[in-house]
Amino acid sequence: MDIFRIEGPVKLNGSISVNGSKNATLPIMAAAILAPGVSTISNAPDLADISVCIKLLSELGCKIERTDNNAIRIDASVIDNPVGDYEIVRKMRASICILGPLLARCRKAAVSMPGGCSIGLRPVDIHLRGLQQLGAKIKLENGYIIAEAPQGLIGTEIFLGGPFGSTVLGTANVLMAATLAKGKTVIESAACEPEVSDLANFLNKMGAKISGIGSPRLVIEGVKQLHPANHSVIPDRIEAGTFMTAAAITAGTLHLCNCRLEDMMAVVDKLRSIGVDVAAADDGCVVSRTGPLKPADITTQPYPGFPTDLQAQFMALLALAEGNSIIVEKVFPDRYMHVAELNRMAANLRKEGSTILICGAEKLMGAPVMASDLRASAALVVAALAAEGLTIVHRVYHIDRGYEKIEHRLNQVGAKIYRENDSETSKSLLPALAAND
Ligand code: EPZ
Repeated sequence: MDIFRIEGPVKLNGSISVNGSKNATLPIMAAAILAPGVSTISNAPDLADISVCIKLLSELGCKIERTDNNAIRIDASVIDNPVGDYEIVRKMRASICILGPLLARCRKAAVSMPGGCSIGLRPVDIHLRGLQQLGAKIKLENGYIIAEAPQGLIGTEIFLGGPFGSTVLGTANVLMAATLAKGKTVIESAACEPEVSDLANFLNKMGAKISGIGSPRLVIEGVKQLHPANHSVIPDRIEAGTFMTAAAITAGTLHLCNCRLEDMMAVVDKLRSIGVDVAAADDGCVVSRTGPLKPADITTQPYPGFPTDLQAQFMALLALAEGNSIIVEKVFPDRYMHVAELNRMAANLRKEGSTILICGAEKLMGAPVMASDLRASAALVVAALAAEGLTIVHRVYHIDRGYEKIEHRLNQVGAKIYRENDSETSKSLLPALAAND
């Protein structure tokens, strides 16, 4: 397994281009299942999760090729195996979003239950309830969701809210299924994330009739058939936000190209309250910090609230604020695997239920740390950029799931990150203990 060897502190300066959104690309790839023929998705990032999705769709019968200009060509003419195999689904929970399109296209599907991950249980009960309300018969067998709709799906009114608010992939699943249902479907309490809007825009390019895009109330007039389409996915707001925290924590200046500030108002609002300057530029923005980091109070919420996917990165940033901060995680209350690792780097974080109390520290110290999930590992990299000394981040495969070549892109603006194989790591990190006299 690879590790990152990161030397700090550094000051980032320069320009980074933000890639296409992973969380838009995945459901849009699944949506290609809905129409026989060739759809092309461009601005698709080259990530481990995208490769898993390519394998998943290929197993269904799709013929897929990645072209060299970051486009994915999906030929969904033949879907002769509507099965989401456990061996693939267990690697990527987002695989669940093939269920809706398979039901709509093939009127049957067997998809492995995704199971949990380090950020939480990740239930899919709202997905299943929404699809059942569209007329699907659903049962669980040997860890698989078996869904059938032999007469096709029927449009209806569906409330998709749950105990933690809306569900992003639950909305995606029900939305995709509803495009080919008979009659009208209303989805109330739909997720409003930009990635869901990007999916809806792609579906409308395929001939779907969706209105209310971007609002919590989506109205879908079912159609008999969809046709393939071409689409360029939106920029990745979570990758952009991660780079913003990297600029802020190192008191540097980063010009982020292809960054849509309109998708990030909660994040920009919080950065400015922390004392970070975010200035719109013609093709993105410039993020810089010269003064001290101020403490903040952050509560994660569904969009347009503060995104849970940037909670860990902001925790790393606030670990160096002058004062005490609070973070409350309302979407995935257990999403705190990074807390103990940041404390190993001399952060002063205390967990009270789903709240983290952050006492700002003078400095962070490099240390060996363990990545646990995609965004927690990004937070460890952000912290290591500002920490004094050497940080070793283990299990960087978590980062590779959501950040393309992150070490190269950060090194181009002043970071010192070296990817090594685990076995190469010398014992150089062992502290020099004073000899017994
Ligand atoms: C999507 O996951 C994203 N993944 C996640 O990003 C993101 O953290 C999450 O939305 C919230 O914004 C992709 O888009 C591939 P949810 P999703 O359903 O759709 C509960 C990353 O780092 N819930 O919106 O799986 C659930 O437990 C990833 O890129 C139910 O109770 O998340 C959670 O508490 C991590 N029942 C809340 O809703 C359900 O049926 C929101 O989850 C579904 C969800």
